[in-house]
Amino acid sequence: MANISIIGLGAMGQALAARFLQQGHTITVWNRTPGKAVALAAKGAHEAASAADAVAASDITVMCVLDYAAADAVIVSAASTLSGRVLVNLTNGTPAQARVTAERTAGLGAAYLDGGIMATPPMIGGEYALILYSGSKPAFDAHAGTLQELGAANYLGGDAGLASLHDLALLSGMYGLFAGFFHATALVDSEGIRAGAFFKLLGPWMSAMMGELPGYAEKIDSGNHGINVVSNLGMQTASLDNILTATKEQGVATDLLDPLLELFRQRLATGSADEDISGIFELVRRKRIAGG
Ligand SMILES: NC(=O)c1ccc[n+]([C@@H]2O[C@H](COP(=O)([O-])OP(=O)(O)OC[C@H]3O[C@@H](n4cnc5c(N)ncnc54)[C@H](OP(=O)(O)O)[C@@H]3O)[C@@H](O)[C@H]2O)c1
Repeated sequence: MANISIIGLGAMGQALAARFLQQGHTITVWNRTPGKAVALAAKGAHEAASAADAVAASDITVMCVLDYAAADAVIVSAASTLSGRVLVNLTNGTPAQARVTAERTAGLGAAYLDGGIMATPPMIGGEYALILYSGSKPAFDAHAGTLQELGAANYLGGDAGLASLHDLALLSGMYGLFAGFFHATALVDSEGIRAGAFFKLLGPWMSAMMGELPGYAEKIDSGNHGINVVSNLGMQTASLDNILTATKEQGVATDLLDPLLELFRQRLATGSADEDISGIFELVRRKRIAGG
């Protein structure tokens, strides 16, 4: 059993602390606003008087606060006790914020792991919870067994920004899926069709289309968007144009899909009508290469 401190007792911090308590660890907690540790204390958690005291109480501290401004404030206030300890920061942020925080904590003598939680609080400790980690490999190796108790622990490498990069990329995929759902549902809603009824068609269709993605990934990795093309860009641009024309005719907003049609047209203008739509990836990637 380990001594673990949890900093931040919002919805997620509460779930993390409760899970560790359930597993029999010795838990110390701290939250900026007092009064949030009552339920955890009733189950045996110790409440520290300050973030510095919480860090001093354990070899490993798991911090899960709102954002990196909050995380920075905690690190500043706990700076005197961080040396020689492990800080696992599960606060959502950007790769750049994670890298800056890794440098800052290294300067304070702590080992740093950054993490991205791919779960909601009720999922913590359950079979579908996944937490991505990056940063100090020795720290991950030493505590992987304990961290696994929160959810599957996937270590992505020594660059502290990698967990956040993958976390935000996975969420990007999710929001793209949600955007398609909202547009499609608004389109049938224009004729009074209920979202729940329509989803009986949309759900299986979206699941079937997931099967296209490994093929796109293969084309992206090979850089060849002209292989195994069954639905070419020229045809799909006409189809998306139809969708947006119909969307306007039905009085529905085109905002969610306009950027995609714009990218289709740009790629088409480069003479890529016979290629797959995966070719638009080159335009999205090019913005980075061009620094745009
Ligand atoms: N909830 C989810 O479904 C979920 C899923 C994945 C990842 N996450 C990530 O987990 C992190 C925490 O989320 P949550 O749902 O627990 O949020 P939350 O319920 O809003 O709690 C936010 C926590 O941050 C603390 N905090 C805010 N500003 C602070 C500051 N300046 N100094 C110290 N502490 C500060 C709050 O303390 P006070 O009580 O004093 O305000 C509270 O403990 C976020 O980065 C979130 O993106 C959440």
